[in-house]
Amino acid sequence: MLKATGETRIKEMTKIDFDKYEEFYAKRSGEMRSSVMRDLMAVVARPEVISLAGGLPSTESFSRKMLAKIMHDVSMHESAAALQYGPTEGFDETKQNIAKVMAAEGTHVDIDDLIVTTGAQQGIDLSARLLIDPGDVIIAEAPTYPGAIPSFTNFQAEVIQIPLDEDGLRTDLTRKEVERLAKNGRKPKFIYVIPNFHNPAGVSLSLRRRHELVALAKEHGLIILEDNPYGQLRFEGEPLPNLFSLDNDNNVIYLGTFSKILSPGIRLGWVAAPAPLLAKFNLGKQAADLCPSTLAQMMVNRYFSEARWQDYVEKVIGVYRARRDVMLAALAEYFPEEASWTRPQGGFYVWATLPGYLNSVDLLALALEEEQVAFVPGSGAWADGVSGANHLRLAFCGVPQDKIVEGIKRIGKVIREQMELFRALGG
Ligand SMILES: Cc1ncc(COP(=O)(O)O)c(C=O)c1O
Repeated sequence: MLKATGETRIKEMTKIDFDKYEEFYAKRSGEMRSSVMRDLMAVVARPEVISLAGGLPSTESFSRKMLAKIMHDVSMHESAAALQYGPTEGFDETKQNIAKVMAAEGTHVDIDDLIVTTGAQQGIDLSARLLIDPGDVIIAEAPTYPGAIPSFTNFQAEVIQIPLDEDGLRTDLTRKEVERLAKNGRKPKFIYVIPNFHNPAGVSLSLRRRHELVALAKEHGLIILEDNPYGQLRFEGEPLPNLFSLDNDNNVIYLGTFSKILSPGIRLGWVAAPAPLLAKFNLGKQAADLCPSTLAQMMVNRYFSEARWQDYVEKVIGVYRARRDVMLAALAEYFPEEASWTRPQGGFYVWATLPGYLNSVDLLALALEEEQVAFVPGSGAWADGVSGANHLRLAFCGVPQDKIVEGIKRIGKVIREQMELFRALGG
């Protein structure tokens, strides 16, 4: 049935005159593009594919009974309000729960400094919408979150990416870049940074660099856009303070989400920001979607009042830690010695580096075709879409342990075959 519908749709599409609409598109829509992860989602949904591509939380770990109870209670006791519109900034109760989540990471936030969004992704999009004019510079890490790149390029930003290493963003190079831009009379609109268990690189920004970045923002009057979906998912080591809590000059916009500590399906995230910026976020959100889902907020709020949310986070941390360990062991066994990879202390991702002559887009095509296994090619994490092609993002979060081992084994095989071919061709 599904197949038939798909085929009919393709037949219909071939009849459509695509050029007919060209004259209607806004100029900036020419810059719109898809993120590599979204493109991959369709391919990797095939049941025969082992996907180490998507950053999919282990939602099967959430208690079905608890979900049923929450849904039942919301429907029986709060149905009218749950089905109604709500305030643009979200319910106070939701914001109180968000403040609890941030407090667990050592960050104090006043609920008046929060707006509830449709995932952290909306926080990225609204930030771009509010702050970027065509041609503006923004600074991001190299690599950066592939899903953020379309948000920035949609608004025609010039994205300058600064390398990171095992201690996160190179703040020395960031300072140099800010100074170079200043000499040319330019200033970045913001510095986008993922300080904890980076997507895709798996690394965290060191404490020293956190202080340096906040100091740089203060010195040059810059905005930092801190995106922190993974901070709660620490497997080991000491938690580090968020940039939002280190900043004493109102320079940080903080993005959080329930996606990785509860569920991405409920689509709830938040922005914490200084009051004048927050007022603009509110206006942007009104235009985008009026308000966050009331139904989703009520479910989250019931969950927070019924259960200890941190117990669930502890549970999934256990799942992810074990999966990370299995992936690291499999990499050591099946990847060639010319490859290297990060050893994340939390989060979802391992970032692998292959010899420079290998291209992970080509490898992905082979891996899918010959071995039915997927990963995210590194170039998706660069705004130019071509740099970083010898890297792979390997997600250990959403796949059972046996499949992680099998997936890494298969990717290792494809890599070795390509390396042998390169040698045979005299490389
Ligand atoms: C760094 C980063 N930011 C934002 C998001 C989007 O999260 P949300 O589901 O809250 O929209 C993700 C999702 O993977 C992410 O990794």
